[in-house]
Amino acid sequence: MIFPASALTVLTDPRTEIRDDRVRIPFELDRPVYEQVDKVLKEMGGRWDGRTAIRAHVFAYRIEEFMRQCLTAGEYPSKNEQGWYATPPALVTQLVDAAGIFAGHTVLEPSAGVGALTGEIVKRGGLVDAYEIDERRADILRAQGDCRRVFAGDFLAQDPMEYAEGFDRIVMNPPFANGLDHIVHALQFMKDDGHLVSVMSRGLMWWSDRKSVEFRELVEEVGGDIEPLPDDSFAVSGTNVRTCLVFVPGYAGSRLRTHDWLMRQPRQLDLFDVAA
Ligand SMILES: C[S@@+](CC[C@H](N)C(=O)[O-])C[C@H]1O[C@@H](n2cnc3c(N)ncnc32)[C@H](O)[C@@H]1O
Repeated sequence: MIFPASALTVLTDPRTEIRDDRVRIPFELDRPVYEQVDKVLKEMGGRWDGRTAIRAHVFAYRIEEFMRQCLTAGEYPSKNEQGWYATPPALVTQLVDAAGIFAGHTVLEPSAGVGALTGEIVKRGGLVDAYEIDERRADILRAQGDCRRVFAGDFLAQDPMEYAEGFDRIVMNPPFANGLDHIVHALQFMKDDGHLVSVMSRGLMWWSDRKSVEFRELVEEVGGDIEPLPDDSFAVSGTNVRTCLVFVPGYAGSRLRTHDWLMRQPRQLDLFDVAA
């Protein structure tokens, strides 16, 4: 949801204190403006605590970094906006640690939001290509200047064969609604010996549809892991969706349909090409 202009002005005012788990506005507001700010903060999960020592909107989790992401984006999550739920800082560290990124690694972030993951990946020396379907968020990613390339568009429509080679690492937190489609598509952009790390709806651990079952079997076969994340992992981002962390390590000869696997296919077809 887009911040009303007056609420955005108040929340970005340097006098407004956004620290730890609370937002405190230590100056007078007109009644209508106060009501708008109060509405936004409550929609984001805050609760007004009027005790003299506090007088702030208090959140159940650290709001500071997440609020920074929202104010940068000019919006806060709503279920109707392509599932934008920024990855909270602690989880960003966990995902990027799990990916094992070294300086010079090429890294794909295929649903980058406003860069919660890309910022940390770049700090570790990764060269990031980012996709984001929402033009406003893609513009924010470009303005941040961290990524090697930013593509505004539908990652699922991107042909992996347009890349000459795969990525060393894929780090992602795709929309919860069709996360597995994003992960399976993303694997086609990975080198044979790359790693993919993703957040996913926890349902992946037990869904019985063929695609989920086959994916779990494949992850086990390559020595990967699907582990539950704490229930409140995304509470700070305004959703109680339960999630898991997916880790897929590639290696030469595995059954993963990686970028290298795709590249090998035309050579195999050449065997049947009479003119070859
Ligand atoms: C759950 S948010 C995560 C954002 C970011 N990865 C992060 O960790 O903070 C998912 C993001 O994917 C974007 N998205 C949804 N469908 C997409 C698609 N088909 N291609 C590219 N981006 C997409 C949404 O706009 C949203 O910003």
